Amino acid sequence: MTDRIRAHMDVESIRRDFPTVRSGQGIYLDSACQSLRPDSVIRAITEYYEGYPACGGRSVHSMATKVSMAMDETREALARFFGTKDPECYVFTRNCTDGLNTAAYGLGLGKGDVVVTTDTEHNSNHVPWLRLSETMGVERRIVRSGQDGRFDMEAFMKCMDRRVKVVSVQHSSNVTGCSVPVRAVAEIAHDYGATVVIDGAQSAPHFPVDLEKIGADIYCMSIHKMLGPSGMGVMYGRREVLERLRPMELGGGTVGLATYDSVNLAPIPDRFEAGLHDYAGIIGTKAAIDYLSKIGMDEVEMWDRLLMERIFSGLEDVRGLHVVGPDDPALRGSVFSFNIDGLGAHDIGMMLDSMAGIMIRSGMHCAHPFYVSRGIDGSARASTYIYNTPEEIDVFTGAVRHIAETFGS
Ligand code: ALA
Repeated sequence: MTDRIRAHMDVESIRRDFPTVRSGQGIYLDSACQSLRPDSVIRAITEYYEGYPACGGRSVHSMATKVSMAMDETREALARFFGTKDPECYVFTRNCTDGLNTAAYGLGLGKGDVVVTTDTEHNSNHVPWLRLSETMGVERRIVRSGQDGRFDMEAFMKCMDRRVKVVSVQHSSNVTGCSVPVRAVAEIAHDYGATVVIDGAQSAPHFPVDLEKIGADIYCMSIHKMLGPSGMGVMYGRREVLERLRPMELGGGTVGLATYDSVNLAPIPDRFEAGLHDYAGIIGTKAAIDYLSKIGMDEVEMWDRLLMERIFSGLEDVRGLHVVGPDDPALRGSVFSFNIDGLGAHDIGMMLDSMAGIMIRSGMHCAHPFYVSRGIDGSARASTYIYNTPEEIDVFTGAVRHIAETFGS
């Protein structure tokens, strides 16, 4: 199986496209935080700065027109990639958090309205709703998942009634890797008249996401987790949802006409993109989407699965090692969270780095309620992507075994 997928993916040729891989800067297993970037993305950013570093959507001179056209091309690439027809439904944001905040504050919720989330959300899909409950009297209902983080459809159904105005759930967890069946969730939520917001930070980079099929009203993602530039995100919204969503920031670029006493908002998506933007980031986003499209998201998903299976088989008999989340590689996407008896998560992270040049993340991964509710201090987390190899995984599992046997209790 490894050889078959390997032939298909051509991981060696992929690896040649990544400067930090080429120059041998260690084993990067922190892609759930931020992915590495291929040459084509870096080149697109540099070409912007060197060749046409002007604004988009404003000036009509040739350089600015080139930027405006590049922005349109990025939206078109996103629409193709996510299976929707209308490129104007893609709003450029700073990251997934930015989009989720826009959704939370822009949907116009008030006292007595109910928002449903899950108990495994990232803080970005938790704290904005918590703040709305404190300041606006919005009521929250939290779908409890199983101890290992699996979504519980029955528990979700019990949270639903006609007072629910928003269902906001992660597509995949950055801790357990578990995915929520968002298509079914959206269908049920819509039956109750609720708006569906999805945190796609960990899903969009790792498997095919068809937004038309899912039926999401709003879907947010982080482009820097999918080979794109730092500080770039995208918020997709169905046209009629974006048209009733209130922008969080107003100013240049967001208005049709303003007088001293009145303002008409610009059409979507411009009304959500206040001020000058990260044009290099937007142009780099297209290069990232093109790169992933060329590989194919089915292949990306298969590769993650293969690497995850290798992690599990490499670590199955390590004494004192505890997996956080399901013990089944098929449910974990690309993230493997774990603890070792007698060691703190940061200790594991630092030892892997200093002893074997392996970069992972450690801590609570901005999913504090998940850890606090289960009485866990945090965890180490290795997360894979298209440039990781089975051989790298073997180095990782060997190093974890060594650390557990030598320093664990
Ligand atoms: N939320 C990102 C992560 O899981 C930053 O690492």
